[in-house]
Amino acid sequence: MESPAAPPVHPERLDRMAGPWASLFGEHARNAIAGWSNAAFDQWHTRRRLAGLVVHIPRHPDAVQRVLLDNAANYAKPRIVRKLIAPLVGRGLLSAEGELWRTQRKIVAPSFAPGAVAALTGTMAQAARAAMTDWPDSGTIDIARTATDTTMRIIAEALFSGDPRLVTPQATKHIAAALEAAGSVRLTAILGLPTLRLNHVARAGARGQRYLRETLTAIVRERGPEGGEDFLGGMIRDLHQRYPGGEAVALAIDNAATFYLAGHETTANALCWASYLMAGAPGVQERAREEARAALTGDAATLPERLPYLRQILDEALRLYPPAPRFDREALGDDVLAGETVRAGEIVSIWPWLIHRHRRLWENADAFNPERFAPGSEKTRHRFQFLPFGAGPRICVGARFATVEALVILAHWLSERRFALVPGEVPDPVGQVTLRPRGGLRLQLSTVD
Ligand code: HEM
Repeated sequence: MESPAAPPVHPERLDRMAGPWASLFGEHARNAIAGWSNAAFDQWHTRRRLAGLVVHIPRHPDAVQRVLLDNAANYAKPRIVRKLIAPLVGRGLLSAEGELWRTQRKIVAPSFAPGAVAALTGTMAQAARAAMTDWPDSGTIDIARTATDTTMRIIAEALFSGDPRLVTPQATKHIAAALEAAGSVRLTAILGLPTLRLNHVARAGARGQRYLRETLTAIVRERGPEGGEDFLGGMIRDLHQRYPGGEAVALAIDNAATFYLAGHETTANALCWASYLMAGAPGVQERAREEARAALTGDAATLPERLPYLRQILDEALRLYPPAPRFDREALGDDVLAGETVRAGEIVSIWPWLIHRHRRLWENADAFNPERFAPGSEKTRHRFQFLPFGAGPRICVGARFATVEALVILAHWLSERRFALVPGEVPDPVGQVTLRPRGGLRLQLSTVD
């Protein structure tokens, strides 16, 4: 069997799953993708009881389809998770339910339609090129950091007209801290335990949350009810047409935070893991580079369409390292999921991390093989065994934006630079809210002639 330290790396698998209380302390508490048993990647369903709370983890694609699509009305975002993320994203699109969710989704959907996203490829390309100007000709870079800086610049430019307050190093630091704290308090909050703000992570997280909310509040208030000519402006105007003034402003701030956060951290992780996988597979990288160099000579708006092999690599990276490794629902009524009974009030956790590496769904599941996503391969897969962006009515509204963005950036980077692994360095994937490399991920760079 492959060593977990060989690329693509993953946390060690245990003979037995870590006990429920391990979720509260030690590595498993800090890292959601650690502490899983081999059996977790072989069995279809896990039911865990933790301090009176029942959590189901279905892996069978039929069960996942029932939760996210066929019986989606029975599965809401858990109240406890909504409470946990409320200080950051309030009642914005990510956490809203019912009519409030439907109205907000309708307001933002046109901004993520194919034509609207295609119009942004120039902004994305510019940010990709700008990132490279800071790179040395040869030597190492932290690809996690450069990916985050690049996607942050793009989201700020594309949705908020490049407001300088959203791209400072201070903003990066505060966001990382806020996400880390949200990840680490998640379980204690799910159990209803007090979330102590005593340790360093929680204190930095609270500061990060405050900074982000205050900055976005200032930006929204300065815009006034007319909003301005960008995504934020359009949203502000639309909200004012549908809600009273105070409510419209509150929802605009909540959604500004939602889109700013959800819109760059995840894509940055996808870029980072795709670059790492290509660094460990020089033949794959060379083929992608040839494709990218040829594709870059054509019309910029249709660039992603000329990158089918890079798209296969991206999908394989999203399979092996899903940037959202889990997301949760709460059952509103009783249900049966592929033979397993779920009761009202119980939590159902969907784990792309487990489903994407499940041995009964994928051959040689832990190996990097972009050929899995070769044209026509979708016919051999269940739609619900590959869900980096979720599925059903709550599918990621930014999925197209993220895919186009990742392809445009990678094509530019590959066309000018070659990535290699740094000898002796092994990344440490850690699942907090997103799946990122702990402490960054260094890659060796060289120029391409
Ligand atoms: C590779 C990048 C991304 C990944 C892997 C990702 C993943 C996800 C997933 C799994 C969900 C569904 C969560 C659930 O059902 O509970 C989601 C929802 C969402 N995502 Fe993304 N996302 C990415 C990029 C983006 C971008 C670029 C944006 C915005 C610019 C965005 C905005 C949102 C929003 C607002 C929702 C909530 C949608 C709703 O509930 O209607 N995401 N994302």
